[in-house]
This record gives sequence, structure tokens and C-alpha cells, in this order.
Amino acid sequence: MAEFRLPPNSRIKKGKHHGKVEGSAKVRRFAVYRYDPDSGENPRLDTYEVDMDGCGPMVLDALIKIKNEIDPTLTFRRSCREGICGSCAMNVDGSNTLACTTAIEAVKGDVRVYPLPHMPVVKDLVPDLTNFYAQYASIKPWLQTRTPPPPDRERLQSKEDQEKINDPSACILCACCSTSCPSYWWNSDRYLGPAALLAAYRWLVDSRDEATGERLDDLEDPFRLYRCHTIMNCTQACPKDLNPARAIAETKKMLAERRH
Ligand code: SF4
Ligand code: SF4
Ligand code: FES
Repeated sequence: MAEFRLPPNSRIKKGKHHGKVEGSAKVRRFAVYRYDPDSGENPRLDTYEVDMDGCGPMVLDALIKIKNEIDPTLTFRRSCREGICGSCAMNVDGSNTLACTTAIEAVKGDVRVYPLPHMPVVKDLVPDLTNFYAQYASIKPWLQTRTPPPPDRERLQSKEDQEKINDPSACILCACCSTSCPSYWWNSDRYLGPAALLAAYRWLVDSRDEATGERLDDLEDPFRLYRCHTIMNCTQACPKDLNPARAIAETKKMLAERRH
């Protein structure tokens, strides 16, 4: 009988405990995934007790405090700390989200922090996004035109047409959606995933773009687009309240309409 087991080096071991700072009364415990693939050691879960009196309100604030005051070896990405750059995406309390916009108070009990799931890990909370970015580049995320621009002005669009690209343009490429999509977990080598497909849709509905036919040709593939089974995890995960699942459904509709 087939036996399904995780490879031994993927099991998460109990890690180090970094105890409470002397004299602090308001303490929260953070359980944080630690992994250095180059070390040859298994991943581990370290726990940190953090004094909330000297800490900002968001999960990212606590991670920065841990790194500055308790354990400088903890590795994570961050930049804007206000939900704009997408770099602090991670899994907090079981959900993919941005650490900088997730309030510690919203989490009950220990705050469990893992990297985005089903991605190779560079170190600790830093996933390897090479494939994710290559998929984004593959949808040609730039304006493609065939006709010369008007001689005296830019290519304009109406307010209604502009509104069509408003939402999909707001994507910050955090990867929360793609890494919560079961189809992407199993087929990320061939399925583009919701983030890249939302970006593809953004150019399909741009009234100034003149490569709609080629863009649809590129998507008409059993894997690149049609691995989406409308499970909707992506839309639920998006920290910017975008709707990649609807964009994918609209893209499928455009392809179906083109066939008739
Ligand atoms: S709707 Fe499609 S893209 Fe979104 S989670 Fe489901 S399968 Fe993935
Ligand atoms: S659609 Fe939302 S979750 Fe997905 S990459 Fe863009 S901002 Fe992140
Ligand atoms: S640090 Fe930029 S989105 Fe969180």
C-alpha cells in the first residue's frame, strides 16, 4: 500500500524559546517559522515573548521589535509598512496577509507567523518569488499598440474606460492570492495563478491596448488560465479587497464570446 509521508527534512521541529523581558506586564507570544535551507537543518518554530508596552500595534511592528531587540537573525521582507509595497506578505494566524496592516490585537492567543505557503523558502519568512514574478512578466504587463499615437496628445480614454482598470491596477503583487489558491499550489509551474491573471485582465480591458487578440491567444490554454476552478480563496485572501476570481471569470467569458 502506498505510504504518504512528508520528507523528513520538511518536518517543523520545536525551536528556541526567547523568554519574557524583565519587568514587562503586557506580553504577547509570537511563534515564528525559522528555516535556513543552506544549514541542512529542519525548519523550526521559535517562540518570542514580546513586551507590548514598547511595541507598535501591527504584526510587522512586533517582528521588527524581535529583530531589533531579541533576535537579529530573524529574516523577513518589509519596506513601506503601510500596505503599499506588498513585500511583508506572510501567513499570520493561518491566513495570507500583510504583516504591516494586520493588528496584533485581532489575533487570539499565540500569534503564529509562517511564510506564504507552498513556495520555496529563501530564509525564515522570505519566500522565493522568482517564478511568481516570471509569470507576471509573461503576461506582458505593459501597453501594446499597433497604431501610431495621435500627433498632438496622449492616447486618451473615457472616465468609464478608466474605471474598468482602476481596481485591477491597484494590485500590489503581494502574492497572498496565488499562494492561497489550491490550483496554484499543485500546478504553479504551468498555471499562472490569480495575481498574474488579474494583471492580464487589467490589460485586456484597457481601451488603449491593441493586443487583445494576442493576449487572449496566450491565455487560451488548459493550464495557464483554465486551472482556475473558481474556488475563490484568492479573492478572500486579497488584502487590497481586489477580486481576481471575478477577473478570471470575465477573461473566460471573453474567450467564450470570441469563439461564437
Ligand atoms: S478562484 Fe481560481 S484563482 Fe482563485 S483561488 Fe480559486 S482556483 Fe485559485
Ligand atoms: S490581487 Fe490582491 S492578493 Fe493578489 S497579488 Fe494583487 S494585491 Fe496581492
Ligand atoms: S511593508 Fe509594504 S505592504 Fe507591508
